[in-house]
Amino acid sequence: MKDKISQLKEEFYEKVKGKTLSELKDLEKYFLGRKGKVAELFKEMKSTPKEQRKIFGEKINELKSLMENVLRESIKEQENIEREKKLLQEKIDVTVPGLKLQQGGLHILTKTMLEVEKIFLSMGFDIMTGPEVENEYYNFEALNIPEFHPARDMQDTFYLLNEFLLRTQTSPIQVRTMEKYKPPIRIIAIGRCYRKDPPDAHHFPIFHQVEGLVVDKNVSFANLKGTLSEFTRRMFGESVEVRFNPSYFPFVEPGAETSINFGGWLEMGGSGMVHPNVLKNAGIDPEEYQGFAFGWGIERIAMVKHNIPDIRFFYRNDLRFLEQFK
Ligand code: DAH
Repeated sequence: MKDKISQLKEEFYEKVKGKTLSELKDLEKYFLGRKGKVAELFKEMKSTPKEQRKIFGEKINELKSLMENVLRESIKEQENIEREKKLLQEKIDVTVPGLKLQQGGLHILTKTMLEVEKIFLSMGFDIMTGPEVENEYYNFEALNIPEFHPARDMQDTFYLLNEFLLRTQTSPIQVRTMEKYKPPIRIIAIGRCYRKDPPDAHHFPIFHQVEGLVVDKNVSFANLKGTLSEFTRRMFGESVEVRFNPSYFPFVEPGAETSINFGGWLEMGGSGMVHPNVLKNAGIDPEEYQGFAFGWGIERIAMVKHNIPDIRFFYRNDLRFLEQFK
């Protein structure tokens, strides 16, 4: 039986030579596995005469730990060799052209709003904001549009509970500003508006407006014309002009539609001299102060400037559209 042990040892040394990692793992099972060669020897202990059993057991254990050590070392060595090989194969070729990272950009509406703000800031205007969830008072009543006034029909919107609604225009910010600050006031307010309009090339239930308001002593329609003309020149180019057509908006008197000649006359929004009732509603004495106001569509500005034929493009998130303005 001692022979069996040295035989197995010889076999082990014979087999373990020059083996790859996976072959070594197979050998580990073959010699040391639960049904492996060493386990077989242990089984033979039962039939060994008692006196020799202890020695026999010690010898097997000796062989077992020898195998374990040799295998552990060889496996480690093979693992290192294979890792080296892999690293050599994975050498990085720094001359291969890199992957281009996808880069996002600002939406054309965001860009337009920033551009509008920049122009008005440089003309001495401050920037205000107001809530998109407005109440009827600011959206209509304070702007001289009483309940049952037909002007409310044209601005049908999404009504919420308790007299709240999604604002149909940025004009309520006029009133909010006048309540909060004393004249002289010179502000614009840009923001999202909502109307219950079915979408088509020129309508969308969500859109943006830029509202302007100037209140001071001795403010005249000429100042309104000068302001919008200057803005138009800076936004669309030196040769572009603004035209004022008499029109009706309850919160101004006189009121005017405004168009620009940018390849034909294109309507941009409304304007006028702030109605005395609106000044009064906000606690400003119309005998002492006058004001002018205007409201232009941001989408309109972008569509005209960039020759975009359909308002729905802004809201479709089609990259082929968006990437043109990156
Ligand atoms: N808020 C109006 C609209 O959405 C546009 C407008 C007209 C704004 C005249 C004004 C104004 O400030 O003076 O139709």
